Amino acid sequence: MDIKTVGIVGAGQMGNGIAHVMALAGYDVTMTDISEDALQAAIKLIDSNMERQVSRDKITAEAKADAMARIATTVTLTDLGPSDLIIEAATERETVKQAIFEDLLPHLKPHTILTSNTSSISITRLASRTDRPEKFMGFHFMNPVPVMQLVELIRGIATDSETYDACKQVVDKLGKTAASAEDFPAFIVNRILMPMINEAVYTLYEGVGNVQSIDSSMKLGANHPMGPLELADFIGLDTCLAIMNVLHDGLADTKYRPCPLLTKYVEAGWLGRKTQRGFYDYR
Ligand code: CAA
Repeated sequence: MDIKTVGIVGAGQMGNGIAHVMALAGYDVTMTDISEDALQAAIKLIDSNMERQVSRDKITAEAKADAMARIATTVTLTDLGPSDLIIEAATERETVKQAIFEDLLPHLKPHTILTSNTSSISITRLASRTDRPEKFMGFHFMNPVPVMQLVELIRGIATDSETYDACKQVVDKLGKTAASAEDFPAFIVNRILMPMINEAVYTLYEGVGNVQSIDSSMKLGANHPMGPLELADFIGLDTCLAIMNVLHDGLADTKYRPCPLLTKYVEAGWLGRKTQRGFYDYR
């Protein structure tokens, strides 16, 4: 099927990045969020991120203007009804995602593909609560979306190959690379990345190193662009903890137990960059 219109649920860090790359690739985008303020903030951020790309000669000013004109915003979720493809990028809570799909389903066209940008929730379980499990899959972007090359495409147990192929074509049109993943806890990237971040927190917790020595060891010693603690702050410590819990519960193996220090930071509300305090102080 030929996808032309994309509906994005959520204008946060991931949602606005997805709108950015979809619009630049020529898709007509409608982005929704619960508040007009969140939508306006997202449009401002997309505009400044695209402007940075113009100033570095990555895109032309004309391409930016065309892309910005392709992004519509609405606080009414059901306005996404006519879209060919829905990408849900709302809060990483299963009940929130299920409520969104429930409200949206009666307004969708029969051919609409429904996807979630979830970083770890079971695609099969989310799909089972919809009227179209065969047209449901995981469409997982990495942060920052305009920069990161990978998109994980996750098949639920019922996802059909027509749906997978249509999503793969979208990833190709974005100029990104798809990695196909089966639906098991945290898929591929987070199955590998989060235990490394969790181990970095254990390394801090046990006093093996301090924040600076742990991060510079991995930056200079393993050529990672960011140290694991800096990256945890960037992703959000609440998200890191939620993913570790999904791994721990879903795979029932103590090697995935979240570090108590990570839990403590989340309980303190020190969630990283978004609260201006995490392993680093951004105030
Ligand atoms: N929009 C558009 N362009 C952006 C951007 C954005 N939001 N953020 C950065 N850029 C561009 C910059 O313009 C710059 O472009 P040029 O190469 O043309 O100069 C380039 O990206 C590099 O940016 P900076 O020079 O500002 O900074 P940097 O070199 O320190 O790189 C980084 C920043 C790309 C974020 C880099 O530190 C990095 O790759 N970090 C690791 C990110 C990572 O691991 N992400 C995955 C997280 S896991 C995940 O997302 C999955 C999950 O479910 C939790």
